[in-house]
Parts: sequence; C-alpha cells; structure tokens
Amino acid sequence: MSDKVVLAYSGGLDTSVAIKWLQEKYQVDVIALTIDVGNERDFTAIRDKALKVGALKALVVDAKELYINYFVFPALQADAMYEGQYPLATALSRPLMAKLLVDTAQEEGASAVAHGCTGKGNDQVRFEVSINALAPKLKIIAPAREWGMTREETIEYAGQHDIPLPITSASPYSIDESLWGKSIECGILEDPWIEPPEDVYTWTRSPGEAPDKAEYVEIGFERGIPITLNGQKMGGVGLIRQLNELAGMHGIGRIDHMENRLVGIKSREIYEAPAAVALLQAHQALEAMTLARDQLRFKQKVAAEYADLIYNGLWFTPQHRDLAAYVRSSQRFVTGTIRLKLFKGNCTVVGRQSPFSLYSHGLATYDKGDQFDQSAAPGFIHIWGLPVITQAQVQLLGETEDPLSITSPEEGGQKTK
Ligand code: ARG
Repeated sequence: MSDKVVLAYSGGLDTSVAIKWLQEKYQVDVIALTIDVGNERDFTAIRDKALKVGALKALVVDAKELYINYFVFPALQADAMYEGQYPLATALSRPLMAKLLVDTAQEEGASAVAHGCTGKGNDQVRFEVSINALAPKLKIIAPAREWGMTREETIEYAGQHDIPLPITSASPYSIDESLWGKSIECGILEDPWIEPPEDVYTWTRSPGEAPDKAEYVEIGFERGIPITLNGQKMGGVGLIRQLNELAGMHGIGRIDHMENRLVGIKSREIYEAPAAVALLQAHQALEAMTLARDQLRFKQKVAAEYADLIYNGLWFTPQHRDLAAYVRSSQRFVTGTIRLKLFKGNCTVVGRQSPFSLYSHGLATYDKGDQFDQSAAPGFIHIWGLPVITQAQVQLLGETEDPLSITSPEEGGQKTK
C-alpha cells in the first residue's frame, strides 16, 4: 500500500496537474480535498475531475459556515483591512483550509499534505505556517513550487496526461474567490498604470452602469456581528451573499491595491468585495457611536496589528488569541442598526441607532433642551490650555517672530535674522 497525500484541490490547472505529478514523482495516492468557502463553483464537476485525473478519493467540504463564523466575523469585529484597503478574503480562508487539510490527513492516515501555491505568493506561507503549527510532523509538498514548469509547460503536461483543461482557460487572470471577496491578478493588471478592463469585474457593476436610484439597506448588529438585513434575521452566509448581490449591483467594493506581499514584493491586486466593504463601513459607524474615544483609538491600532497578523499567516498563534480576546471584549456594546445608502459605487452611512449609544442629544444639541453647561467651558479651557500658555511664553514666542513660520518650509520654524 502506498503512502497517501491530501491535496488541497481547486479543480484548476495546477492542482489537477499536481494529482498526476504527485503520483509520478512521489509514488503516492492522492486524496483531493476541495473546500467550499463560498466560491460558487460546480463542486460535483470538480470532484469528478479529480477522480478522472486519478485521485484515489475526492472529498468536498462545505466550510462556508466555519469560514464566516470563525474567520470572517472575528476579522470584521476587529475592522481588519490590510494596508487599509484589502478585507483579507483569501488570507482568512487559508488557515481554515490548513486546519481541514490536517484533519483530513489524520482521518485518512496520510503522511503528507500538498497545496498548489507557487513560491512567490503569501498563500504558501499561510498554508505551511498554519499546517506546521497544527501538525508539526506532517510533511508538506508544494508541487507547483517544485516542478519548475512554466505555464505553457504545465498545459503541455496536462495534454500529455489527458488532464482536461479548465473550460475557463480563456481567462487571462488568476482568480481566488470566497464569500468575503474575490481577488484578480496577472495579465494586463501587472501594469499598474493600466486601468483594470471591465471584464476583470464579475461581482460588481460598473458604477457608471449602476441604477440611477439610490438604495437603502439597514444592517443590524449584535456585539459586532451582523444579524439582520433590512430588519430580517439572517445567518452570516445568507446575509453576506445577499449583501454581495445588493452592493455589487450598485458598483460598490472595487479595490485597486498596490500591495506589499509578505515575501517582499509589491504587487498590483484587484479585489471585489461588496459585502465586506459595506459591512466594515457599517461596523465602524456603529463602533463610532458605542465606543468611547480612547477605546476607538486603541482599537484602530489593534485593527492594524490584527490585519497584518492575518495577512502574514499567523492565525494560529497566542498573539492572535490575545488580540482576539481584546476584540471580542470590545464588542460588548456594539449592538444596533446602521442605515447605508448605496449609490453608483458609493456606500455611505446615513443613519445609526443603538440602545448603547453614547451620543447624547441633550449634550449635543444647539436647540432647546441643551443640557451642556456652557458656563463650565472657560474653566475647562483655562486648565487645558495652561501648559500651552506656559510653553509659548518661555519657548515658542522667543524662538520665532512669526508663529506662522512654525510650518514654513523655508524657515523650518527657526528664527531668521
Ligand atoms: N494578494 C492577496 C493575498 O495575498 C490575494 C491572493 C490570491 N491568491 C491566489 N492564490 N490567487 O491575500
């Protein structure tokens, strides 16, 4: 009986070739594992293809709920956006896939797992660091990194081994999809000066072609998790799916990112993430109403750390646990409803309410019913400004004739004679 390898199988060219290649190179039986994170493909056809190419077994796992509840929603609660732009759809799916690969290898008695990543991307790092954390003894094989074939050679290899080419081989792009977003790379997109051609986008309408009438949508959150859409209670998967449709129709969620990869290269990445963009915006608006100033400021720092950690493949770390505990705790009062206006590529927050709102109309209003004690303001200003007055007298006014010169580029704030 030969050794078994569990291969993360997408049904695409590389992972299909990998089935044959693993058999030839390593004399192993291949178990194909296809993980559904909401990429809307024909999983029966993918399964059949794996078997046809020669897999011993082909498994398909519906991991949509796991993906949303254990990966996407915690990232939403954290407001995680890599470099302020990328909602991390792919990055969030890889640790989950690593976990399922490890579980399957254990169940099937396999001695190794394999993935189809090349040696230039982030995904290889995410897979392997996660797999090593969960099962340090498991061997990892990365065929596409080892075989050294160009794309042409891979196609030729497929031809020689009777491996059907993907029907969509016409697409010049490399695409990865999950419920949280779609990434598009390669081809003409590698020229950062070129505007992405319209055929890159399949989840979003061009803002110019979007409906002329604005649409409003209300999102209800409980402890930072979206649970209703327009007042209707929904599970995470259904809610995100519907919001992808809705916001995508209005041209929302197109992202063009000059991204810093973990492996040290800059890469031009196009994303479509209508639901992610809308939900992140809504969530932040609700936090703005329910968290204190200091909580908000600190949480923004955590958000940046959290996003980096996800991007860099460090999901299964104590550092992540610690940050996640903070994030979860921060969401205790992030409950309420946000109203968004979707219109020609723009998603705007136009209404918010929460039982835990820190907004006090009585304190904020300029109308009747003002409860703010304006007579207390001079005392506040006096004490707040005390160190400023002291420093201005002793240092600032002695240093410059003209206080405006502090920001003058020529004088650099120095007194000129
Ligand atoms: N640049 C993104 C990331 O690193 C997208 C990667 C897409 N992955 C892929 N195998 N096509 O998360």
